[in-house]
Amino acid sequence: MDTNTEDQVGASRTATISRDHRETVGNVRVDDPRIRCNGINVYYGTNHAVHNVNLDIGKNEIIALIGPSGCGKTTFLRCLNRMNDTIPGCRVEGEILMDGQNINDKEVDVVPLRARVGIVFQKPNPFPKSVFENVAFGPRIHGLARDKTELEEIVVSSLKKAGLWEEVKDRLEEPGTGLSGGQQQRLCIARAIAVQPEVILMDEPCSALDPIATAKIEQLMAELRENYSICIVTHNMQQAARVAVRTAFFHLGDLIEVGETTQIFTKPRHELTEDYVTGRFG
Ligand SMILES: Nc1ncnc2c1ncn2[C@@H]1O[C@H](COP(=O)(O)OP(=O)(O)OP(=O)(O)O)[C@@H](O)[C@H]1O
Ligand SMILES: [Mg+2]
Repeated sequence: MDTNTEDQVGASRTATISRDHRETVGNVRVDDPRIRCNGINVYYGTNHAVHNVNLDIGKNEIIALIGPSGCGKTTFLRCLNRMNDTIPGCRVEGEILMDGQNINDKEVDVVPLRARVGIVFQKPNPFPKSVFENVAFGPRIHGLARDKTELEEIVVSSLKKAGLWEEVKDRLEEPGTGLSGGQQQRLCIARAIAVQPEVILMDEPCSALDPIATAKIEQLMAELRENYSICIVTHNMQQAARVAVRTAFFHLGDLIEVGETTQIFTKPRHELTEDYVTGRFG
């Protein structure tokens, strides 16, 4: 009998779009987007890291970016609040529209932009300041509080929204760096929320956390979605499946496929997506 290896591992192919097809499959657009990306290309010197990506981030949606290491997820994510500006030799082309304005325009001030579009990194990076000051810092520099009482209210409500208040309410004057890893990550989320962002970018926010801390952050994301758009990079397929409404699969700098998360995981249309979600590579 003729057996092929894939049948032996119990997997059958349903994807119909061939591996050679490099145009994005699926609908990259949503009605009423919070962010609309048109023709995004990113270069590090001569390395063309992100190729002509078109993608919308919806209002109040969680979108997951997945794909093998080095495919450009972080690079793309960093475009959304101009963090690539901070990398020497990095060049971004294309249009990223928020409320009709291209955030890549030279005249756009990145300081308020980064308050509107906050970012949480893989490794929690609290400032070397107290828990309170970590959260108060942003509202203070952006002038969001009229007085000390208002500032305290913002700090408390941000810590509550980040699901951290009960654990730190008696430790507000202790250094943020003295918290556990999972607490530090929620502190960084509280810090991002404190400046009332519209979008929160998360680059593998749970990769250094245990399952309990991860579950807390995932629950938090589900709650935050009511008020914010969230774009999360994750290598954890189960996490993407649990939290994201839509999923975007990247491969070697191309956005290969976008769709509802359940479709991407159960009925991928592109062979590369299928390879990835079934664990054939990556
Ligand atoms: N600061 C940088 N300077 C030069 N090249 C970079 C820099 N950051 C990323 N690159 C290159 O850009 C490409 C995409 O990298 P990126 O970090 O965006 O991938 P990724 O999908 O986030 O990978 P991972 O899953 O490993 O985090 C890679 O070829 C990488 O080497
Ligand atoms: Mg990355």
